[in-house]
Amino acid sequence: MMRLFSCKRLFALLAVLFALAVPAAVQAAEDSGAKEQAQRQQVQPGNNAPVWRDVREGVNPYQTTQVRGVETNVLVQPSGQSWRQLRPPIALTGGLLIAGALLAVFGFYWWRGPIEVHEKGTGRLIKRFSDVERFTHWTVAISVCVLAITGLIISFGKYALLPILGYTLFSWIAITAKNLHNFVAPVFFFTLPVMIVLFIRDNFPEKGDLKWLLSFGGLFSKSGRETPSGRFNLGEKVLFWLMVCALGIAIAASGAVLLFPNFDQGRELMQSANIVHIACAMTMIVLASFHIYLGTIGMNGAYEAMRTGYVDETWAKEHHQLWYDEVKAGRARQHFADDAPADVRTQVAEGLKA
Ligand code: HEM
Repeated sequence: MMRLFSCKRLFALLAVLFALAVPAAVQAAEDSGAKEQAQRQQVQPGNNAPVWRDVREGVNPYQTTQVRGVETNVLVQPSGQSWRQLRPPIALTGGLLIAGALLAVFGFYWWRGPIEVHEKGTGRLIKRFSDVERFTHWTVAISVCVLAITGLIISFGKYALLPILGYTLFSWIAITAKNLHNFVAPVFFFTLPVMIVLFIRDNFPEKGDLKWLLSFGGLFSKSGRETPSGRFNLGEKVLFWLMVCALGIAIAASGAVLLFPNFDQGRELMQSANIVHIACAMTMIVLASFHIYLGTIGMNGAYEAMRTGYVDETWAKEHHQLWYDEVKAGRARQHFADDAPADVRTQVAEGLKA
């Protein structure tokens, strides 16, 4: 019992000593810090913590300059710190989402294989895309692919490629990627509005879209039968408004701010444009990967539709039943093409079987 009591006393004594010692130690540290700063003010006037704190908080007496121009009198720009902290997690999340999307696409291909038509092609073709639509589509598609790959090299190259390739080769690839990105960007910038104008009228909600949504187009149905849709199904329409319009415009606008920094942009605008650009570009790459999958190996005959402009009647009936009915009734802008060239007929027939 006596032992416990002396232990308790000892602890109490230690606690009191501790409570007394800590503030004293903190005070001593602060005093020595303040002393050090005061000394520094003597030997290096204007280059010490209080001055830099004032500079960071934008207290004016320290920020005058003869240099003319945007923010030339701002030595340290506070929001630069938040940009530096915000950028890595956004880039990382984007990178993980892209990896996740690619895994999902490969998983779906492994599970479902290419989406095929159930009946044989009739050999009667429908002109689904005009030459202008195809030319615009492929200009946007190729520029987006180049911008996506070069953008990923600019964002992740230092971590993913440099350790493997070494400085010389990586610096060559990084500089090529930067220049390609800067020179292909205007192609995307000027063709995107053309794509929006060309495709917008067939992307408004129409009869059958809700049914398509509720069955997710029949993509996961046992029968594999697709829910009837218009010229573009709801999945394509969502991609159009989200990927082409919303993200496309945000990427083009933020990219222009970054690419042409000669309109008196301040650092804050450049930082915000950078964050918007990365976040929207990563999201577009995720969405485009699903579109590209369905537009290449994921659906037989789809690639040929945008490559040649033509689809087989059976393809139209099985994938866009309501649009097919309109074409048959002569109410659609698209029509049967009995004069389609022989090589196109072969390509479309091959694509349907592939
Ligand atoms: C290599 C890349 C790409 C391939 C292989 C591809 C393939 C295709 C194919 C096959 C179609 C026709 C689908 C149908 O008949 O319904 C299509 C339609 C379309 N694609 Fe792509 N595409 C690619 C990239 C892009 C990109 C990057 C964009 C835009 C940012 C885009 C926007 C569109 C639009 C707007 C349509 C018309 C459908 C609609 O308006 O809803 N494509 N694409």
